[in-house]
Amino acid sequence: MGKLQVLPVSIANMIAAGEVVGRPASVVKELMENAVDAGADKIDVIVTDAGRTLIQVIDNGCGMSPEDAVLCFERHATSKIASAEDLEAIRTYGFRGEALASIAAVAEVSLKTRRRDDETATKVHIGEFGAVESSPCAAPYGSNFEIRNLFYNTPARRKFLKSDNVELKHIIEEFTRIAMIRPSLAFSLSHNGKDIFVLKKANSLKFRILDLLGKNVAGDLVDLSSETSIIKVSGFLGKPEAARKTLGNQFFFINGRFFRSSYMHRAVMKAYEEMTPEGMTPSYFIFLETDPHGVDVNIHPTKTEVKFEDESVVFQVIYACVRETLGRNSFGASIDFDTEGEVRMPVLGGSFSEFKPDAAAPMPDLDLSYDPFADFTAPAAGGHPQAGGSPAPGAGFYAQKRDDYGALFEEKAAPMARVMILQGKYIITPAASGMMVVNVHRALERIFYDRALKALRAEKHVTQTALFPVEVQVGAANRTLFDGNAELLASLGFDIAPEGTDSVVVSGVPEGFSCEPGKIGRLVEDLVLILSDGAEGLPEMMEARMAEKFATLGATSAAKLESPVEAQSIVDTLFGSENAEFTPTGRRIVSIIPMDEIDKKF
Ligand SMILES: Nc1ncnc2c1ncn2[C@@H]1O[C@H](COP(=O)(O)OP(=O)(O)OP(=O)(O)O)[C@@H](O)[C@H]1O
Ligand SMILES: [Mg+2]
Repeated sequence: MGKLQVLPVSIANMIAAGEVVGRPASVVKELMENAVDAGADKIDVIVTDAGRTLIQVIDNGCGMSPEDAVLCFERHATSKIASAEDLEAIRTYGFRGEALASIAAVAEVSLKTRRRDDETATKVHIGEFGAVESSPCAAPYGSNFEIRNLFYNTPARRKFLKSDNVELKHIIEEFTRIAMIRPSLAFSLSHNGKDIFVLKKANSLKFRILDLLGKNVAGDLVDLSSETSIIKVSGFLGKPEAARKTLGNQFFFINGRFFRSSYMHRAVMKAYEEMTPEGMTPSYFIFLETDPHGVDVNIHPTKTEVKFEDESVVFQVIYACVRETLGRNSFGASIDFDTEGEVRMPVLGGSFSEFKPDAAAPMPDLDLSYDPFADFTAPAAGGHPQAGGSPAPGAGFYAQKRDDYGALFEEKAAPMARVMILQGKYIITPAASGMMVVNVHRALERIFYDRALKALRAEKHVTQTALFPVEVQVGAANRTLFDGNAELLASLGFDIAPEGTDSVVVSGVPEGFSCEPGKIGRLVEDLVLILSDGAEGLPEMMEARMAEKFATLGATSAAKLESPVEAQSIVDTLFGSENAEFTPTGRRIVSIIPMDEIDKKF
């Protein structure tokens, strides 16, 4: 190791930027927060190419003097705190004087700003290598930041950006978190010249939620409200039956700031326990207010995590308050309602220790790869599975797996109706050495997997079942996922088109998927989950993973198997696969009950 040296400011700033500015959405967040802190009541966000090319935030807030317009890009330049005591009780979004310096370290930045009483505005440009130019100019009062060429000097970070759809989804999420809690301010967001949100000032939080998330979400909420000596809780809870597999509408705010907390999330989930099916998450919008001294917002570089003085008390208050609200609305377990509106603190036993805060724990991951045998429920009638691939049973590819597969089928088998369906779950068919039982759900997984993989590798032989168009509201953030993956979805047999700013219309599903309108909503939700992972341009391994997800989805969405002809076609298609014996995740599809075992029974 050489001699110690203090890093040049430009490098120190780049390192700091790594923490604050992870992706375009972080820039949107920091600039919007600054605009709110500046007292603006109208904030417009303009984004090009998901922020890679341009992020512009225009506000009508207090503006800056010519000196401050230059100074604001210096590290630790802030107007928001002046002393260590201030740090104990932060009431603004910003306080570190770090955000603009970080942004300017990794992008080209222009600012035009004017205070209301100044005659001229100031224009500041920070170009490559931090060269600062400033000059007077004409501009409306407020501030107008333009961030171009994000990460031009940190190619590694630029490379790690996801597709435009995914980055835009993050931007929309950050936008939503800030706009939601400030209904009295007007906001807009546009991307590549198209408006995503134009939010007028709203009368209440509920109207703002409606504007942001649509009536599917906002129409289904009950009010939450309670006050204890240490914390005030208000907000809205989604009805248990409206819980969804997709995460996204779970919001916590503390003193007007969005935060994430798996610990507090567990408090809510615990309160909903037994009211929502396993794996489903309700929507919630929980606004906490407390004395700023009781909460530390300075524990995370992007300030999305906070620390309460007494975490477990806040946990208990949230739990009790959610439980009580659900009970009062007759959603769940009986609760003593004599104390309506007032939260009775539960006495927590040892069982609560399982909910200990765990900073590392992420929000719950959704697992689509459950065991279909464990929870097989026959889907309702509708479409029918389709024989797609090559129909030749007993083809030679079994040789490596087991020797007698070539002789699996009786030789002089008639082509049709050699199958029997057992409770929609199993197909039974004679085999040379006994009775072959095919697990329908798993067979479909294999069939859909093969088909998805084929489509993903661009051999597009997929057919579609037409539907009466069904509109599904997915929220603006998720809608972009469908825009960007239109081709992939079409190649898999989906006909899904964007509609309005926050919905999609489903007009076709892959052959074999249920056409029942009631199921389409769930299907779209599952697609959101799959596509959020980033779907395009993936190497082979990712293709297999995606195909796996589509397979599970296909098998779960399939119509109930009723006709022997369909059953036969499943068997045929299955044995056209290169691996008919196991599902993509390695579970056995086919089992043979040998003759001698059948003989033994008699
Ligand atoms: N839109 C704006 N309007 C008026 N002043 C602004 C605006 N944006 C930034 N400033 C000024 O520039 C300063 C630096 O902003 P910056 O975001 O870097 O730091 P901060 O908001 O104080 O703290 P943090 O790093 O926590 O965000 C702010 O304290 C504020 O005085
Ligand atoms: Mg700031």
